[in-house]
Amino acid sequence: MAAPVGDIGLMGQNLILNMNDKGFTVVAYNRTTSKVDNFLANEAKGSKVQGAWSIEELCAKLKRPRKIILLVKAGSAVDDFIAQLSPHLEAGDIIIDGGNSHYPDSIRRTKELESKGLLFVGSGCPLWPLSHARWSPAAWPHIKEIFQATAAQVNGEPCCDWVGETGAGHYVKMVHNGIEYGDMQLIAEAYDILKRGLGLHEDEIADIFTTWNKGVLDSFLIEITANILKFKDDDGQPLVTKILDKAGQKGTGKWTAIAALDAGMPVTLIGEAVFARCLSGLKEERMRASKVIAGPQKEPFKGEKKQFIDDLEQALYASKIMSYTQGFMLMRETAKELNWNLNYAGIAQMWRGGCIIKSVFLGDITAAYNKTANLESLLFDDFFNKAAHKAQPGWRRIVAQAVLWGIPTPAFSTALSFFDGYRSEVVPANILQAQRDYFGAHTFKVVPGKENSKLPLGQDIHINWTGRGGNVSASTYSA
Ligand code: 3PG
Repeated sequence: MAAPVGDIGLMGQNLILNMNDKGFTVVAYNRTTSKVDNFLANEAKGSKVQGAWSIEELCAKLKRPRKIILLVKAGSAVDDFIAQLSPHLEAGDIIIDGGNSHYPDSIRRTKELESKGLLFVGSGCPLWPLSHARWSPAAWPHIKEIFQATAAQVNGEPCCDWVGETGAGHYVKMVHNGIEYGDMQLIAEAYDILKRGLGLHEDEIADIFTTWNKGVLDSFLIEITANILKFKDDDGQPLVTKILDKAGQKGTGKWTAIAALDAGMPVTLIGEAVFARCLSGLKEERMRASKVIAGPQKEPFKGEKKQFIDDLEQALYASKIMSYTQGFMLMRETAKELNWNLNYAGIAQMWRGGCIIKSVFLGDITAAYNKTANLESLLFDDFFNKAAHKAQPGWRRIVAQAVLWGIPTPAFSTALSFFDGYRSEVVPANILQAQRDYFGAHTFKVVPGKENSKLPLGQDIHINWTGRGGNVSASTYSA
């Protein structure tokens, strides 16, 4: 018996009814008890769903070990509910956090509850059915059946699995959301290029997206964007053209970017996607700037439209490959740091269904990690390596054209810069190191093969750059 607690909103209702349909006994509780009455009298009428009108009653009704799913806003509300529930629970009972909690909170909660003999599961649900699960490992056998039965299924496999220790699950969910920000931003930029660059109408753009959805970009986000573009207001105008261009954010993309900075990993596309939302938020300032800052004179597009649209598809695909490459590099690094044993093929498989970034593309990522479990990056996988190479010419043409038009493409551009940086044996960090040593004596190392008696290999070297006019001399080294 499981009990969703907290919010009997759309997601809570779907979860309860889904579990009921799969043959589980469910107790619904909401602190606004009239919501329980309404739900039982309407949506849950005729089902086996039971109600509880107090925390005590809820805990009394549940079979041990109790499995309680919290569907409350991430943050203090989760702690408040845990504090209310804990006195009524017994050792071995399981609290499941179904919200988008920040992973350090999940690590803390797991430790706190385990010290009281309780088990904790962090399980954010971007779309119901469940797509993620992460927890006290001892909780898994008790809830595996419920979770996997109610999860989305792709090719007969449930999109729900054990991810890793303590906060690993919420960490992976956070990266999922960051990647979601990136995918959304890439689609928005493609729309902008088609609209402002090629001058297409929303209906034409919708048709392009519908076509793309049959190819390598086949995904939930491309599909809903086509639907959004076709949606008309009462006056026949595409509704999307009436939506204020200020994007909100609840924080999971920002957390991913912060985590990337903390880990020292170049997760540039998600970072740009977050900053693009920040820039969109400066609506009034942008309006003022648009009056005084001119862009390039817009030249009408003279090329072959069909080729351009194919190039754009390839640019979106290649940029997406970069974003997922970066996201998986981040998970790899953090797993190393925190001793998590992450199953990357399993993570990609979990994201294939029941979540916002679900796509055919994730099947290729699953295949890549199934082939090589410890793959350094997706770009070392044959399939993605070839795909990026094939996309490269069109991708460059799109970024170049957008720059000439003055249409901002932070996500497309940073993806291409990452690609060019990642494939560069030599980057200009020698200049940075020289500057750091010049102004701050931060030292540098010599390139292997270029060492000499004055530039010893493997040593931290400092030069007095001004004292000798830049000439190196033995007396200026401090190794
Ligand atoms: C959600 O939880 O709705 C999304 O996954 C992320 O939300 P955001 O775009 O508001 O941050």
